Amino acid sequence: MIVVTGATGNLGKATIDSLLSKGVSPEHIIALVRDETKSTELRSKGLQIKLGDYQDHESLLSAFKGADKLLLVSSSSDISKRFEQHKNAIDAAREAGVGHVIYTSFDLIDLRQSIMGEEVRYHAYTGDYLKQTGIAYTLMNNTMYADMIPFLIGKDILNNGISIPAKDGKTPFLPIKEMAEANAVVLIDPGHENKEYTIAAETAFSFAEITNMISDITGKALIYHQPNEQSYREQLIQDGVSKDDAAYIARFSGAIAGGEFDTGKSDVKQLIGRSPVNLKNYLTTVYGIFK
Ligand SMILES: NC(=O)c1ccc[n+]([C@@H]2O[C@H](COP(=O)([O-])OP(=O)(O)OC[C@H]3O[C@@H](n4cnc5c(N)ncnc54)[C@H](OP(=O)(O)O)[C@@H]3O)[C@@H](O)[C@H]2O)c1
Repeated sequence: MIVVTGATGNLGKATIDSLLSKGVSPEHIIALVRDETKSTELRSKGLQIKLGDYQDHESLLSAFKGADKLLLVSSSSDISKRFEQHKNAIDAAREAGVGHVIYTSFDLIDLRQSIMGEEVRYHAYTGDYLKQTGIAYTLMNNTMYADMIPFLIGKDILNNGISIPAKDGKTPFLPIKEMAEANAVVLIDPGHENKEYTIAAETAFSFAEITNMISDITGKALIYHQPNEQSYREQLIQDGVSKDDAAYIARFSGAIAGGEFDTGKSDVKQLIGRSPVNLKNYLTTVYGIFK
C-alpha cells in the first residue's frame, strides 16, 4: 500500500496520476487529504481517501496504518510550521510501521547556507530528522518547477517583455509532471532505500536564454528586463500575487541570481529511463499559443 500526502496539490495529484498510468491499482493508493470537500476527483479515481492534517498526529497515524511506502510531500503551510509538521508525519509513519518514507526536498547548492535562510532550511532539518529515525528513506531533491516560470516573469510578456532580477543565474527547471513520474518510480520499484536524488533537468538556463527561447516560440523579439527587487515585488503584486508571496518569490529570484540552483546534477534519466523534457519544448506548450 502506498500513501501519497498533499494529494490535493500539484505534485501529489500528478504523482497519483503517474502511479495509475504505470498500472498501480487505485485501491493500493491512499490519498491523504485534509479537506474532504477537495477529495471528489480523487475518490472518483477509486483511491482510498484518508483525512489527515500534518498538525494532527492521530489523524496521520490512522491514515498511515498498513502502508508500506509513504510519499511525504513537503507542506505548503506557514514556513515556521513546516519542520514541525514534517516531524509529525515522520513520527506517525514510524509508529504506524511504514517501511519507507520518500520526502520531497529541495535542490540548492547548500540548503543551510542559502540566502533564503529558514525559508528553505526546514528541508535540511526534515532530511536530517528522517535519516536518524532508522526508517528507510529517499530524499527527492527537487529543483524549481518549470511550471513556475510564467509566474516568475510577469504577465503580458508580448508587450512587457520578461522581468525578473535573476542576473545570469542558471536554473535546471523541470516540469512538475516529470518530478511526479520520478516519485512514482521510487514508490513502485525496489532499490531506492537510503538514497538522495537530484530531480532537475540536465541543463540549467539563465533568464536571458529563456527570453531567447520564448522569443523563438512566439516569433516576437522579447526583452529581458531586470527590475530592482522592490519594482519586481510591485510587479508580482500587480499580477495578483499576495504581498508576502511577492516578497518570497523576490527572494527566490535572488537565489537564482546567486547561482544557488545551478547544482550541475540530475538523476532524472536514471529514474524515469529517458532524459527529461527539453525546456524549450516545455515552454512551447505554454507560449506556443502566442505564435
Ligand atoms: N520546487 C518548487 O518549485 C516548488 C514550488 C512551490 C512549492 N514547492 C514545495 O513543494 C510542495 C508541493 O508543491 P505543490 O505545487 O504540490 O504545492 P500545492 O499545490 O500548494 O500543494 C500542497 C499540498 O500540501 C497540502 N497541505 C498543506 N498543509 C497541510 C497540512 N497542514 N496537512 C496536510 N496537508 C497539507 C495541501 O492541502 P490543501 O489542498 O488542503 O491546501 C496540498 O495538498 C509545496 O507544498 C512546497 O513545499 C516547491
